[in-house]
Amino acid sequence: MFKDSVVVVTGAASGIGKQTAIEFARQSARVVVADIDERLGTAVVDDLKSDGLDALFVKADLTSEADCENLVTTAVDTFGRLDVLVNNAGIEISTPLHEMSELEWDKLVDTNLKSMFLCSKHALRNMIGPAKGVIVNVCSVSGLVAWPGIAAYNATKGGVMMLTKSLAVDYARYNIRANCVCPSIIDTPMTDTSNGHDTSIKEEKAKLNPIGRLGTPEDVANAILFLASDKSSFITGAALTVDGGYTAI
Ligand SMILES: NC(=O)c1ccc[n+]([C@@H]2O[C@H](COP(=O)([O-])OP(=O)(O)OC[C@H]3O[C@@H](n4cnc5c(N)ncnc54)[C@H](O)[C@@H]3O)[C@@H](O)[C@H]2O)c1
Repeated sequence: MFKDSVVVVTGAASGIGKQTAIEFARQSARVVVADIDERLGTAVVDDLKSDGLDALFVKADLTSEADCENLVTTAVDTFGRLDVLVNNAGIEISTPLHEMSELEWDKLVDTNLKSMFLCSKHALRNMIGPAKGVIVNVCSVSGLVAWPGIAAYNATKGGVMMLTKSLAVDYARYNIRANCVCPSIIDTPMTDTSNGHDTSIKEEKAKLNPIGRLGTPEDVANAILFLASDKSSFITGAALTVDGGYTAI
C-alpha cells in the first residue's frame, strides 16, 4: 500500500514508533527512523535492512529546530520527497503539578508538543509544493480526558489535539491531511518505566480498558497506517481512539 512512499517516524527507536516504522517498511515504504537514542535507532534500521527493507536512521533531538530541519532535509535529499510524517516521540513525567519544576514542564512541552510543531513546519514546506502529504500525530486519551496524576502530560496532549485540527484546517487546500491517534495504556517501555517495571500495576491498568487488556504497539501502528493511507482520504482533523473502549465509558 505504501510502495515507494517516503515516511518519517519520530521516536522510532522504541515502542509505538518502532512498530510503526516496521509496519511501514513491511508495506514497502522507505522509512526514516528518527530518534535521540542512536543505539536503539540504529538497531531498528539494521534489523529492517537485514530483512531486505528500506530504512535510514537519523539522530535527532526533536526539541531542537536545527535537528528537526536536518531530519526532514535528510529524508528529502536521500529519498527525493516526503509523503508521510508520523509525529510520535514523547515522554511522560508524572510529578504532581504543585511539585513540578519549570524545567520538567518545559521538557514535557518541548518534547511532546514543540517537536510536533517543528517537524510539521519543515515537513509542510516539502509537502505544499507537490500538494500532497499526510501527518499523523500520536496524541493520547489524555488529549481527550484528564488522566489522573499527569496534569502536565495531559496538557501537552491537549495541545497535540488542537495542533492536529489546526493543521487539518489550514493545509487541506494543499491536499495535506492531518489526524491523530489517541491510545490508552499501551504495553511499551514508557509504560514499563512509569510502572517501575511492576507487572501487577500493569495488570490493574489493563482492567481500566473495557476490552480488559493493554494495547499493543501493533494496535496503534495499524491505526496510524490506516490514517496515513488513501483508505482514509476523506478523513482529516480526526482523533481516532485506540483505547480498548477507555473513553467510551
Ligand atoms: N505507552 C502508552 O501507554 C502511551 C499511551 C498514549 C500515548 N502514548 C504516546 O505514544 C508515543 C510513543 O510512546 P511509547 O510508549 O512508544 O514510548 P517509548 O518510550 O517506548 O518511545 C518513545 C521514543 O521517543 C524517543 N524520544 C524521546 N524524547 C526524544 C527527543 N527529544 N528527540 C527524539 N526522540 C525522543 C525515545 O528515545 C523513544 O525511542 C508518545 O508520544 C506517547 O506520549 C503512549
